[in-house]
Amino acid sequence: MCGIMGYVGREVAWDVVVSGLRRLEYRGYDSAGVVTVSEKGLHLARRVGHLAALQEAFPAGLPGKVGIGHTRWATHGGVTEENCHPHADLRDRIAIVHNGIIDNVEALRAELVAAGAKFRSETDTEVLAELIGRGVDKGLSLRDAVVGAMKRVEGTAGLVAVDKKDAERLVVARIGSPVVIGLGEGGSYVASDALALRPYTDRMVVLDEGEVAEITATGIKTVDLEQRSREKRIEKILHQADDADLGDFPHFMLKEIHEQPAALDRSMRGRLDAVVGSARLGGLQQHEQRLFDIRQVVFFACGTSLYSAQVGAYLMSRYARVPAQAEDAAELAVKNPIVDRHTLYIGISQSGETADTLSALREIKLRGGLVAGITNVVGSSLSRETDLGTYVHAGPEISVCSTKAFTAQVLATELLALRFARTRDLSATDGRAWVAGLEALSGQMRLMLEHAETCKKLALRFADARFTLFVGRGANVPVAAEGALKLKEIAYVPAEGLSGAAMKHGPLALIDHGSPVWALVPPDETRERMLGNLRELKARGAIIMAVAAADDAETKSIVDYVIPLPPHHPAVSPILNAVPLQLYAYHVALAKGYNIDKPRNLAKSVTVM
Ligand code: G6P
Repeated sequence: MCGIMGYVGREVAWDVVVSGLRRLEYRGYDSAGVVTVSEKGLHLARRVGHLAALQEAFPAGLPGKVGIGHTRWATHGGVTEENCHPHADLRDRIAIVHNGIIDNVEALRAELVAAGAKFRSETDTEVLAELIGRGVDKGLSLRDAVVGAMKRVEGTAGLVAVDKKDAERLVVARIGSPVVIGLGEGGSYVASDALALRPYTDRMVVLDEGEVAEITATGIKTVDLEQRSREKRIEKILHQADDADLGDFPHFMLKEIHEQPAALDRSMRGRLDAVVGSARLGGLQQHEQRLFDIRQVVFFACGTSLYSAQVGAYLMSRYARVPAQAEDAAELAVKNPIVDRHTLYIGISQSGETADTLSALREIKLRGGLVAGITNVVGSSLSRETDLGTYVHAGPEISVCSTKAFTAQVLATELLALRFARTRDLSATDGRAWVAGLEALSGQMRLMLEHAETCKKLALRFADARFTLFVGRGANVPVAAEGALKLKEIAYVPAEGLSGAAMKHGPLALIDHGSPVWALVPPDETRERMLGNLRELKARGAIIMAVAAADDAETKSIVDYVIPLPPHHPAVSPILNAVPLQLYAYHVALAKGYNIDKPRNLAKSVTVM
């Protein structure tokens, strides 16, 4: 959700904090703010809008060698300067930035108001700042005041605090929302995401739940909420091939779409066994024995990751013959889930920090369920809290709308389904054919990317359409839904993605003369029925853009445009089909002049429920 960056050391804090925030801005971008501490006290800069607006308003920056900053995605209170972080206590002694939501804010606010507080904003963060400020006023150190406040808070908080009377220290705390600390030469760093630390250091400490750390230029001291000292392990920040720079691309989304072949290769490296026709997933190996007892698989995830989960559930039941389903993590967490010992629960999350996904995970674990994780972010909460799991290694994904993480997540479910399938019904010959299909996948993905120009032409033709429909069948129903989600997220076009079969039960009424429809028609067991659905659409005047086999003359004779699919293994069609839909949404959004990487109202990582 929001981005946090903090620094204490030899450098000018403003420069470090602003450049760190730039790397985190994808997490939230309603408004931005920085506070620094010098011998003169606190210096505050806040602006509504993107980080650039803050830099323009403060071209000389702020003085001081300690500073904290924040880019916001509004939860409590509108997008106004008063509501921007950092927030100070009412005497402007301490200032904090905060990620998360304080659930008991109204009770705390009422208590403080009764004691004379007159708040300047509507945020829960200001209430937290005041709580800490009152502790400091009573003579507590900043760390002790933060510990005291955290003990009273219900909800989630990743926070960093500074005190105007101490230009040498930051205090960091974590309840729920992630915080990482970077240890550099002559300076220490704090961020909500390790991505921001990469330019400065490769040594980090990850705060665990309920920990508070005091940070100086030369080290950290960590305690829990009972003030017991905690030993922390220094971890290495892995620098990945695709980093958070745009390179020659105009937008991160386009860059990330084009990174997909390399991401798929990376995700597969060392995981395919061509001899036995199976997959090896490091994180699963130590639990292999338990996997034989699994009788059901339940994936859970949100947003784009939920669609990758739905593809995974389809593949798992179709190929491994294991009953499987995909659940919206937000619903699973609250519906009193039935958890049993023979079910494997698999959470999928690009960031590994989505609050609803983590909440479902915790609920299942609490009931004794075996939970696996599929995530892109090494060291994320999902990876730490699951019993077993796998990284997708797609590389940092910066654009808010997910592309390469989606295809890499689907690939991870393929590997898992293949592994399960080989312990059950799938023959060695069929397993080897699937492995060969996966080995050829990145080359096929490159061929799909060659149709970017056609996707752009189609996008220009239909950019002004009022509504766009996406249809698929089987494993491609979720891909159709994902295609529609892309168009909604970045081009703000109402869109729906569903099964071709569902058309006649209602949505067909939306189709009119000239309505654009994307249809996924791979040459598999779904094709015949899909063609029937396309004829129904054509009869109502739809203009159909299909993704279909290059030699599929029948589909060509029905539809208006075809993006050709190269010959491929049937299990991988969801990955190939996703590409033209991503490119189409990108070009519609571009034609409309929208902010592609930072769509309105959205954030990359939703760390609140
Ligand atoms: C947000 C993002 C989506 C993403 C979803 C789940 O809504 O805007 O792009 O799919 O969160 O995120 P996760 O990190 O759990 O995959």
